[in-house]
Formats: sequence, structure tokens, C-alpha cells
Amino acid sequence: MRTTRWVRRSGAPRLEFGADYNPEQWPREVWDDDVRAMREAGVTIVSLGIFSWARLEPADGAFDFGWLDDVLDLLHANDILVDLATATASPPPWLTAAHPEILPIDRNGNTIWPGGRQHWRPTSKTFRTYALRLVRELATRYAEHPALCAWHVSNELGCHNIYDYSDEAAQAFREWLRSRYRTMDALNHAWGTAFWSQHYGDWSEILPPRIAATQPNPTQQLDFKRFSVDVLRDYYRAEKAILRELTPDIPVTTNFMVAGAVKDIDYTDWVDEVDFVANDHYRHPGPQSLDELSFSANLTGNLAGGEPWFLMEHSTSAVNWQPVNVAKRPGELDRDSLTHVAHGSDAVSFFQWRQSRAGAEKYHSAMLPHAGTDSAMFRSVVALGERLRGLAFVAGTRRKKAPAAIIFDWQSWWAAEQDSHPTDRLLYRREAVDWYTAFLNAGVRADVVPVTASLTDYPVVVAPILHVIPADLGARLTTYVQNGGHLVTTYFSGIVDENDHIWLGGYPGPLRDALGLRIEEFAPLLDDEQAELDNGTTGTLWTDRIEVAPDTEVLASYKTGEMAGRPAVTRHPFGAGSAGYVSTRLGPDGITPVLAEFLSRAGVTSELPPDLRGRVELAVRDNVRFLINRTDDPIDLGPDGRLAPRGVAVLR
Ligand code: GLA
Repeated sequence: MRTTRWVRRSGAPRLEFGADYNPEQWPREVWDDDVRAMREAGVTIVSLGIFSWARLEPADGAFDFGWLDDVLDLLHANDILVDLATATASPPPWLTAAHPEILPIDRNGNTIWPGGRQHWRPTSKTFRTYALRLVRELATRYAEHPALCAWHVSNELGCHNIYDYSDEAAQAFREWLRSRYRTMDALNHAWGTAFWSQHYGDWSEILPPRIAATQPNPTQQLDFKRFSVDVLRDYYRAEKAILRELTPDIPVTTNFMVAGAVKDIDYTDWVDEVDFVANDHYRHPGPQSLDELSFSANLTGNLAGGEPWFLMEHSTSAVNWQPVNVAKRPGELDRDSLTHVAHGSDAVSFFQWRQSRAGAEKYHSAMLPHAGTDSAMFRSVVALGERLRGLAFVAGTRRKKAPAAIIFDWQSWWAAEQDSHPTDRLLYRREAVDWYTAFLNAGVRADVVPVTASLTDYPVVVAPILHVIPADLGARLTTYVQNGGHLVTTYFSGIVDENDHIWLGGYPGPLRDALGLRIEEFAPLLDDEQAELDNGTTGTLWTDRIEVAPDTEVLASYKTGEMAGRPAVTRHPFGAGSAGYVSTRLGPDGITPVLAEFLSRAGVTSELPPDLRGRVELAVRDNVRFLINRTDDPIDLGPDGRLAPRGVAVLR
């Protein structure tokens, strides 16, 4: 059972405001300017030391904490809290020179060399020995420092180094498989090794899914993903154990990456590891950019079980790692920050405080830009700080449960996008975000919940591309419908079990009865093909050849071509509820009317007045309502005032 803690501090509740702070990139005299400007901006907290290993331990076992003492004292003297990193994210050159065996190996057998960051094998015992020594030194030195309010383990664990195919990883993978399967027979069954002469006779024969002559075993690939997450979790626990031993009163966290296409870590059960959830999020340009931000914040809030979480990083404006790094438009700094707050964040923190002068991130925006404090950016940051101070009443409030949920499942994301499938064009998260956009268009709140969440209180549950449905999940979903829930799912859902084995007898095996349909064959579409539906929408990517039960209602049929007359969207009354099915990719515009019909059949209505639906996102924390302008135009809120373009109103 998880017990949530928060950064250690006294005083009235407030929203924290801050950034990653990298003073080691600047001469000492700049630090004084930094804290002066931090005070002006109302910065309450910084994350410190994330990439400082080489400065803290310039040579093997020779520690230099003097400069960090100085920074911590300076910050404390200025009432700024420190979320202190364990500084283990990136090993220093002396370490990789002495121990090149800690460098990861990619699937082609190439070494990942130093020169960037995070070049360490998650399974490396040598790396762990050195990293844990540093953690112990740091925790011992700063245990009593009054600025220390939280520990920040490593940084974005797995961001660059999650998959390592070295011999050391192979050995650890075998041990992991042994504890998962116990016997060779069980592994051979799970991996379906009767196929292509893959039968294993001994654990020592097993390797990570290195570059192979053709498609590697799909279950081996899935298990390697699961293993790689578990290894990082184990590493996190090793750091945490030391921090707990030496500083039991200081909460420990690490920054998740629930954002866009970052898919390698299944965070579903990571929340049990952290004292409070922290997340990093960066937007990608595009028509659903804001919806995706809201989706990620929403999912983070539900991973945190509805409790407050910590937005550890986002950007004040452009990033530096996209093909084209778009600057934020007026209003977006506040709107993005407050959208995270609306979904439960009690902190607004950025990468980074002062824009770097050198290094790979010098074009990444920051709170204090190259131009200095006399800049529109800094003035906007100061204004945001002031606004957040005025919103202190939000701190500590919980997300209010929505009338609908979207199930999010990393296992289905991984499995549905593996190779050798009916199409390689399918994108799991895109489909989920499309449904989320449709909810926003309808003005109906939906919680984006991990697949393990209890569904019983949600009148409507949407499960987009829920590809992996183990028997117990199939039973849980069926019971949910039987007991009166309204489930909607899509193409390529319920196809395989946890071993990536097909459910036989017609798709989607575990949901066939509830859905009142049976699919004998998938019929994916080529890029230049479309499927017209008789409700005026158009499908792409996928179609299914569906047979429906006599009591299944066909809400829309295919209109043209081979599929003409076949069901496309269906709804089946089952027990006290219903189960709906959408067999093609409708995109946000096509899903919007289809969802509206499912919602109205389920009796779920918008909490917003009709003229605001679609234009405004509503998010609720206890008694606080957030109205977020999804458009570039001003919006009249009647008695509640007026929303500026891209503006956010926070109402009590
Ligand atoms: C990640 C990292 C930061 C920084 C930002 C840039 O989130 O944690 O150190 O590199 O990306 O967007």
C-alpha cells in the first residue's frame, strides 16, 4: 500500500515553483545573480546536482562537496528548497575509462560510448558499486541540511539506456526469466518456441533479443522490455534503500516520463516505489498538442491515485531535441503549467533555471534566457510565479473522479506495436489520445487510468486498442459490463494473452460474449485506402470482418467496396450494461459523433454549458474548477468572466 508524502517543508500549503538548477555550468559570481532572480520570480524549489557526478567526484574516491555546500547554503539563505539529485544519472569520464564494461551495448553489438549522457548498463554491478558509494557520501553529508526537502534519484531512469544487450544483461535476463518461469518447459511454452526451431534446452542458451536474421521471437521481445523495466526499478530501490537508511524523513522520488511517444517504462506499479509521483512533460507541435499534454497530466494524476503530484520538468518555450523546436506563443506558458496543475500537480517546475551557454542544450529554453532578466521570457516567468502564489488554495486538493475513464496499458502499447503484425502503421497512444480529444470535444471529463485501476465507479469506460487481455482482465471487464458499466473498445483489442498468444475461436476472445460479435479476419487498409461509414465518418488504417449476434445493434456500417454492408460500429446490451466496438481508426473528428452516441446511451452528459463544450476543457480538483481555453480566441464565461486566448480560469 502506498503512502504519499510531499517535499519536506513547514508553513502554509502552496504550489511549488522552480526548475533544474545547474550552477556548475557558471562561475561563482553568477550564483548570486541566480538566487536574486529566483527570489524575484518567486522560485520556491530547485532540483540540484542532476548531472554533477564529475564535479562531485573528480577522481575515483576523491570527493569535492565544497561547491555544493556553498550552493545549498546560498539557496537556504534565500528560502529556496532543494530537491537534491543523487547525481548518478551520468557517469564521469574517469569511471568509464577505468571500467568500460559499464557501457551499454546496443542490439547490433555496438558499444554506446561516453560523450552524451546516461551511458551505463542498468545491470552493471560495477556501475552500481560506484553510484551507491556516491549516494552514501551525499546522503551522509547533507542529511541534516535544512534546504534538503526531497531526494531525486538519478534522472528520468531509462531515458537513454533502458535497453542494453551486453553479456552482463544476458546473464541478468536469464535470472529474471528463471524467477518468472521456474522451468524451461514453462518458458518454452510462453515463448512459443515450437516455432522456427527455437526450443531451449538450458537457460544458458537464452539471449536478449539481439539483431537477428528476421523477426525476433515476440514474447522474448516483450519479456526483455519487462525485464529492462524491472532492472531499473531494482536499481532505483538500491539507491532508495541507502537514502531511507540515512535520511528516513526525506521523501524519495524520481522523475517519470509520461509524455508523448516515450513508451519504454510501464509506470503502472512504479507509483508504489516513490514517496510522491513526479513527471516530466514536453509538448510536440501539432493539432492535438494541448490535448496530449492534458492526457499525460491526467494519466500522471491517476497513476498517483488522484493525489497531488509534482511536475518536475517542462519547458518555458522551445526544446532543443525535436526536428524543429517551436517557441511557445503568448499564453502558452501559463496555460501549459496550469493544465498540469488542473490535473493534480502541486508544483510547476522547469528544465531549466538558466539557459546554458555551452553544451547540447544551449538552445533549450529556460526560466532565465540568454537575454537575461530584461526579457519578455523572464517577465512572463515572474508573472507566472505570482499567479501560482495566488493559487495556493489549490495545493493539497485531490482530482475529482470523472464520469468516464480511458484505460491506458503499457503492455498493450508494447505488444500492439511489435513487428510482423497485420499493419506496422498502428499507433497505440495516438488512438488513446484521439478518444481523449473526442471527450474534450464533447465537454465530458474522462480520467486516463492505468489498466489496474478500479473501474466500478465509472459509468463509461473506453479501452482503445486494449490488445493484451489476460484471462483475469477479460473477466474483470465482462463483470464490469454485466454489473451495468458501458464499455467501448476498438480494433485489435483482446487479441492476445500476457504471453502474446492469440485467444482462439474468433477475435476478440475474452470480450466476444460481452461485445456480441466475432471477428474471423482483420482487414487492414493501405495508406491510400479509406473506409466510408454510413454515419458520415471515414475510417483509415484498419477494418474487421465482423459477425454480430442477433441482439447486437449496428450503429454504423461500411458503405463501399469489399466491406459494404458489414458492421463497423456496434453496441451490445449485456447484463445490466453494454459493450461497444469500433472496428476502424476514425480519428478525433470521426470518434467525436460516435462517442457522443455512446455517452448519450449511457446517460452521461457534459458538466459544461453547451456553448463552452469543445472550446473549453474542464478539470476539477475537490471544489476547484479549472476552465482551460482550447482555442486561440477569447471566450465569454458569463458570470465567471472571460477567458483570454489560451487562458485558464481557476474558480472556487
Ligand atoms: C529531459 C531531461 C533534462 C533535459 C530535458 C530537455 O527531460 O531530464 O535533463 O535534458 O529533457 O528537454
